[in-house]
Amino acid sequence: MQENSNEVMVELIKIRKFYPPDVKALKDVSLSVAKGELLFLTGLSGAGKTSLLRLLYRVEHPDRGLVEIDGMDIGRLSGKKMQILRRRIGIVYQNFKLLSKQSVARNIALPMEITGRQKSFIRKRTRDLLERLGLEDKINTKAGDLSRGEQQRVAVARSLCNNPNLVLADEPTGNLDAENSDRVMDLFNEHRDQGATILIATHDSRIYGLGKHRVVVLANGHIIGAGIKRDPSPSNEDRPQ
Ligand SMILES: Nc1ncnc2c1ncn2[C@@H]1O[C@H](COP(=O)(O)OP(=O)(O)O)[C@@H](O)[C@H]1O
Ligand SMILES: [Mg+2]
Repeated sequence: MQENSNEVMVELIKIRKFYPPDVKALKDVSLSVAKGELLFLTGLSGAGKTSLLRLLYRVEHPDRGLVEIDGMDIGRLSGKKMQILRRRIGIVYQNFKLLSKQSVARNIALPMEITGRQKSFIRKRTRDLLERLGLEDKINTKAGDLSRGEQQRVAVARSLCNNPNLVLADEPTGNLDAENSDRVMDLFNEHRDQGATILIATHDSRIYGLGKHRVVVLANGHIIGAGIKRDPSPSNEDRPQ
């Protein structure tokens, strides 16, 4: 564990996650994600993608196995240490989890206020992210009044506002057209270029079919395939392996 801690950001070792009464979501999953890697986790609906991400930010616990982030066994971290670790993790939830009665600006500012950023920094960072995502004119709109696609982009902006070391994004382009998916992927790629580790659960083959990165396929509680997608190619030969 220690010797890997410099290169490995996420390590899952022989993870089992069952839900009562008889859902075997993850049976025996091992996965290692390097620091600075962009990795796509794919598979059909119900394959266990969301469960795997939820184990990583510890809202779920594995029945068996080990979850390590940056060399730390998160099952053993105190609540306080986990809270500190979570501040370095940007999460895009499958259902966004925005504060619907608060403005877009407020939703994005909140994580930065919690980490003690200055007001001027928060204002600039919020504006910059919204501009990049084509939402600059929505800054004062209540999150609950936005379309699903707009809410999804606000969730992406919020996940990146604190420049996290690790981004866990659950279907982050599920409600987006091609242009907005590209905006989201451009931002994720830039963060990766700056050293962040990015883990994206998706069944949007458009986003994992382009560029060079690992694609891991989950099915029936197992990883059934992993490959590297090398070239930007619009062909449909983009399944791993
Ligand atoms: N809290 C839960 N209680 C019971 N079953 C669950 C729970 N969360 C997920 N599941 C089930 O676990 C399986 C994997 O779900 P999920 O991780 O959401 O997959 P995916 O994100 O790939 O669609 C599904 O059969 C789902 O119904
Ligand atoms: Mg899911």
